[in-house]
Amino acid sequence: MVDLHSTIVAYQGFARGEWVMDCEAVILAAGLGTRMKSRLPKVLHPVLERPMIWWAVQAAYQACGAPPTLVIGPDAEGVRQAAGEGCRFAVQRERLGTGHALAQAEQALHDSAPLLLVTSADMPLLRAETLQRLIQAQRENDGPLSLLTARVRRTRGFGRILRDGQGAIVGIVEEAHATPEQLALDEVNVGVYCLRADWVWPRLRQLPLSPKGEYYLTDLVAMAAAQGQVGWLMVEDEEEIIGVNTRVHLAEAEAAMRRRINHQWMLQGVTIVDPQSTYIGPQVELGRDTVLLPNTYLLGTTRVGADCEIGPNTHIRDSQLGDRCQVRFSVLEGATLEEEVDVGPFAHLRRGAHLCRGVHMGNFGEVKNSTLGPGVKMGHFSYVGDTVVGANSNIGAGAITCNFDGERKHRTEIGEDAFIGSDTMLVAPLKVGRGARTGAGSVVTRDVPPNTLVAGVPARAIRKLDQDD
Ligand code: UD1
Ligand code: MG
Repeated sequence: MVDLHSTIVAYQGFARGEWVMDCEAVILAAGLGTRMKSRLPKVLHPVLERPMIWWAVQAAYQACGAPPTLVIGPDAEGVRQAAGEGCRFAVQRERLGTGHALAQAEQALHDSAPLLLVTSADMPLLRAETLQRLIQAQRENDGPLSLLTARVRRTRGFGRILRDGQGAIVGIVEEAHATPEQLALDEVNVGVYCLRADWVWPRLRQLPLSPKGEYYLTDLVAMAAAQGQVGWLMVEDEEEIIGVNTRVHLAEAEAAMRRRINHQWMLQGVTIVDPQSTYIGPQVELGRDTVLLPNTYLLGTTRVGADCEIGPNTHIRDSQLGDRCQVRFSVLEGATLEEEVDVGPFAHLRRGAHLCRGVHMGNFGEVKNSTLGPGVKMGHFSYVGDTVVGANSNIGAGAITCNFDGERKHRTEIGEDAFIGSDTMLVAPLKVGRGARTGAGSVVTRDVPPNTLVAGVPARAIRKLDQDD
């Protein structure tokens, strides 16, 4: 999260009638990503449900306190959409390298903040805190540029940091152009820079053309070294700098993000029995002492209360669960569970399923767009759709609401304390009164009055029931 103190310190100047931050972010995102071998642009491939670019935008936004500017390719409508609100865009029509890409942002940024943070769109694990520390390093640096470096076991094609005898950074050499001695260096260029804006724009026009026919942003480093000290910050966590160029890297990034999120939840008091097989999305919230059993997916805007037990083998998306719920071997999408609801094994809750406090839903049931009142029991093999079930009713094994007549959906209402016998077909639209009962195998086509037993095909009233029958 953003450290409020440094955010306030970062406020500087009064421009165009508003307070602005002293640093603006640019994300380079116009690369083709050909090594992904995909119809989808690289930066739209998801890492834990969110397009890669979303993570980069979040980190840059948090670090600078304002939405970043993205350099994108000419046909990048999807990238614009995925970047989110407030971002500005500069289009790089020809992909002539990272230096050329940054130069495209000049128009969008000219004359605004004194510092620029430049990051790549394909590093979803970079933390906002790391970017903030880099900005701080540049605030304290007399020279015009600071950058992120890392010592790594695998160099992954990154450029190597060149230092002189005193340890000062003097340049960067790209792997493709490195000598064997330079290739042996294990300190790499992460590809994230903080620069003085007034210094960088004229320098970009002086970049030499590389042997590959591109303008390399990395060539700025030697220029900056000639002018003064190059600032640097070494990233300790190697996972943070996973850059995604292939689908192998994509899986590595996904696994690292999963580890990071799971780790945070464990520190917040959630038990995760097998973190490797537990998938928690970035917008999920979990309560204390909840236990996640192996192979559990909590995705979308899901919220799980305290003292719940979820899994094993459970997939929950966009659902709200109260405290003390248990969900085993089940799939939930857009469902709401109040407290002490117990679901599964093998239940399917679809959009609009609302299970009130203390509901028991057993194996092989499906509920869609329906409310099961407090204490309802629906133990085995049932379908309930477009229905309201009153408190403490029992839905017998195999009972089904026939809500679709081939053209339209119809509603069913079941009163409190009703007893729907095994294998009952409730042909909607239909009302079953409170305290009513249906015999096993009934096909109910007409409304059932309260406290009445019906049975047969089609079901007929058999007798009135005493209240305590
Ligand atoms: C770059 C660095 C390298 C560093 C590595 C870290 C250069 C020359 N090299 O290499 O030192 O170790 O990042 O990941 O900068 N992009 C554009 N337009 C272009 C080319 C690239 O917008 O014309 C964007 C890409 O979308 C990507 C970023 O710039 O987000 C980096 O480009 P990429 O081609 O991945 O550079 P690397 O070869 O990885
Ligand atoms: Mg790259």
